[in-house]
Amino acid sequence: MDLSVPREHGPIGIRLIRQRDARVLQDHLMSNRAWLAPWEATSPDGPVSLDMRVGVRRLLQQYRDGGGVPFVMEYEGNVAGQLNVWGIARGSLASATIGYWVAKEFAGRDITPTSVALATDLCFTELRLHRMEICIRPENAASLRVVQKLGFRYEGLRRRYIHIDGDWRDHYAFALVREEVPHGVLARWVSGQAPRHAADVPEADRRG
Ligand SMILES: CC(C)(COP(=O)(O)OP(=O)(O)OC[C@H]1O[C@@H](n2cnc3c(N)ncnc32)[C@H](O)[C@@H]1OP(=O)(O)O)[C@@H](O)C(=O)NCCC(=O)NCCS
Repeated sequence: MDLSVPREHGPIGIRLIRQRDARVLQDHLMSNRAWLAPWEATSPDGPVSLDMRVGVRRLLQQYRDGGGVPFVMEYEGNVAGQLNVWGIARGSLASATIGYWVAKEFAGRDITPTSVALATDLCFTELRLHRMEICIRPENAASLRVVQKLGFRYEGLRRRYIHIDGDWRDHYAFALVREEVPHGVLARWVSGQAPRHAADVPEADRRG
């Protein structure tokens, strides 16, 4: 298994984050405050540092410890944002969660769904994980489109689940297990086989 090899599909790719990505990521984070803040993880213990040199160092340490796999998403070779596989549980759970963001100037080019597909396929095949999860605030229409496109399956409403933008926020949970995508998530999507309604949220869980 060599996770340092980039994975690509057309102009879109993911690769492991490097310490020298800190600068461009920091620039994106600073010039996209209004775009990112409503969806950004915060800490119940107080303000968190936005210093990406520290952030990247921490992510790479988690990677070495086996707790996560931090990627950058690229478009035509330019860093567009981050995709983070975190909370890797081994053993009989064999599961992980995916989080992501792109800078606003890169939005709407399928960068995130393509990257999520590449990362999920890599986690199922090379990391031998069994289940990948994505949790999204009900208000985040753009992110809900990502799971709809790929046919992630709706699993339920988690109340006050993650500390985002300064408070505990409800999230919808979506997941895929390996058996659902024997030919891979990317192949299923690009061949038009992703189930259209898997990510539908039942009426009872919808937010008005
Ligand atoms: C959610 C997010 C990662 C989606 O990334 P992306 O690479 O733009 O994904 P897509 O290209 O599939 O676009 C998804 C939807 O975003 C919306 N969108 C596209 N361009 C947009 C723009 N310039 N501004 C706002 N929304 C836009 C569209 O509804 C699109 O759906 P469509 O393709 O059916 O039209 C991105 O919007 C983002 O980083 N948002 C801020 C951070 C965030 O929400 N992170 C996720 C937390 S769960």
